[in-house]
Amino acid sequence: MSEKKTEARFIVASNRLPFVLARGPDEEWTIEAGSGGLVTALLPVLRNRGGLWIGWPGTWEEVPHLHELMGRVGKELGCTFRPVPIDQDLYHDYYLGYSNETIWPLFHDLQSRCVFEPHFWQAYMEVNRRFADEIARRVRPTDFVWVHDYQLMMVGEQLRKRGVTSRIGFFLHIPFPAPDIFMKLPERQTLLAGMLQYDLIGFQTQRDRRNFIQCIRLLTKNIRVRAVGSLHRIWYEEREVDVGVFPISIDYRSFHRRSEEPAVREWADEAKAALPGRALMLGLDRLDYTKGIPERLRAFRHLLRSRPETHSRVNLIQVVVPSRAEIAGYDELRTEIEQLVGAINGEFTRRGWVPVHYMYRSLPSLDLLGYYRAADVGVITPLKDGMNLVAKEYCACNADGKGVLVLSQFAGVSAQLGRHSLVVNPYDVEQTSEALYQAWIMPVVERRERMRRMRRVIRRQDIFWWVNAFVRAAIDRHLEDFPVLEEFIPEMMD
Ligand code: UDP
Ligand code: G6P
Repeated sequence: MSEKKTEARFIVASNRLPFVLARGPDEEWTIEAGSGGLVTALLPVLRNRGGLWIGWPGTWEEVPHLHELMGRVGKELGCTFRPVPIDQDLYHDYYLGYSNETIWPLFHDLQSRCVFEPHFWQAYMEVNRRFADEIARRVRPTDFVWVHDYQLMMVGEQLRKRGVTSRIGFFLHIPFPAPDIFMKLPERQTLLAGMLQYDLIGFQTQRDRRNFIQCIRLLTKNIRVRAVGSLHRIWYEEREVDVGVFPISIDYRSFHRRSEEPAVREWADEAKAALPGRALMLGLDRLDYTKGIPERLRAFRHLLRSRPETHSRVNLIQVVVPSRAEIAGYDELRTEIEQLVGAINGEFTRRGWVPVHYMYRSLPSLDLLGYYRAADVGVITPLKDGMNLVAKEYCACNADGKGVLVLSQFAGVSAQLGRHSLVVNPYDVEQTSEALYQAWIMPVVERRERMRRMRRVIRRQDIFWWVNAFVRAAIDRHLEDFPVLEEFIPEMMD
């Protein structure tokens, strides 16, 4: 390894860190695992590599001894965390507002849920500036700065304004919408011009990249776009910006290994034994209107109505992980889900059989892996999703290889796994119901063959493949050029 190569460090910026600070019952601040796909994906990459991870600590309250707490987690996880504090007003307008009431619904094609408020944008810019300040204070020209997701799209532009010349990459974890939808965004031009300050922009699917390039062509003057190998290169003002497709993934081997541990086997066996002779269908999502949970429940109800032979023989286990509770739509969604669960159980429950088992909480990892292992059918039917890691985790943990995936055509993951799963339009209740039925009656040989192929895709294109593909495209390096540290010394603290 050359001298120059050892000098580069990872500087990662994401709104979420892999943990949140939460106040315990005795008013003490405690550290809890963060949830969501971004965190699941990034932690195995950064763990023990000594890089710097900049993010929001997960609360707008002032946390005493914040740096000490972060230092402690950093030592455990082997990288340095730097907090970007966000007060309550900013939290409201930047996180709840622009990020999750403007960009999130718009980029998921649900424009009727969008709130367009000028002061949301001001707050968004303010937080993006704060992230840029924090990075600019620490970055060296040889470092690789990697900015993540829709909450921080303008950080690259702000870094250039501060004279940062390092290579900067950006990865969008959520979909990028088609031009007719993107055009509705009041800040459309500024946002695209800002994104063109990155050196590499990564998307989950070909469709996202195509949408982005079409928007650029429509809204930006004097650009040239040409395919260069597997990337597209954009020439804009004095800059060259590469755009690529990098479907994010999971640490396949870790999920697979953990799902084989005796405690998980035992947990899954007990879960199956508690529902003897039943097929377990599993839905597991953050509480979000993009995940299609009510539509899935209606499809399950249709299955029970139209196929009485399924009675007492199938169960839907629906786990909903609490998320973004302060946003009105999310709370209403929870009520809608709970009413539907109640209605379905009210209509069909009979002695010894309650069709829908519903949980509203986050799961400890034993239960999560146990459900993945035990489930006969994974039901992943979002209305729109950047990728959907739950689908990949389910396959990685499906040890007997007999699980079937029912998959929405609008989840990014269907570009990789669609050929081997039962693909549905989640808005089509009858079609989804029929797919659940087909999954239930599918012969074992066919189940095994489909699952084997899906697992092969996820094993080959795992999270390390993803990070390597991105880093190679951005700075022509490999993850091993940022070696795992034997002993972690928090060098970037100050
Ligand atoms: N997950 C979690 N807590 C839970 C259950 C699941 O953090 O109680 C994880 C799950 O393992 C997965 C992630 O949350 O890695 C969800 O990622 P996905 O891409 O499916 O959807 P997102 O929530 O990012 O929209
Ligand atoms: C998705 C987004 C992430 C986000 C996660 C959880 O995966 O792409 O950026 O962190 O959802 O949402 P939250 O609002 O709790 O961070």
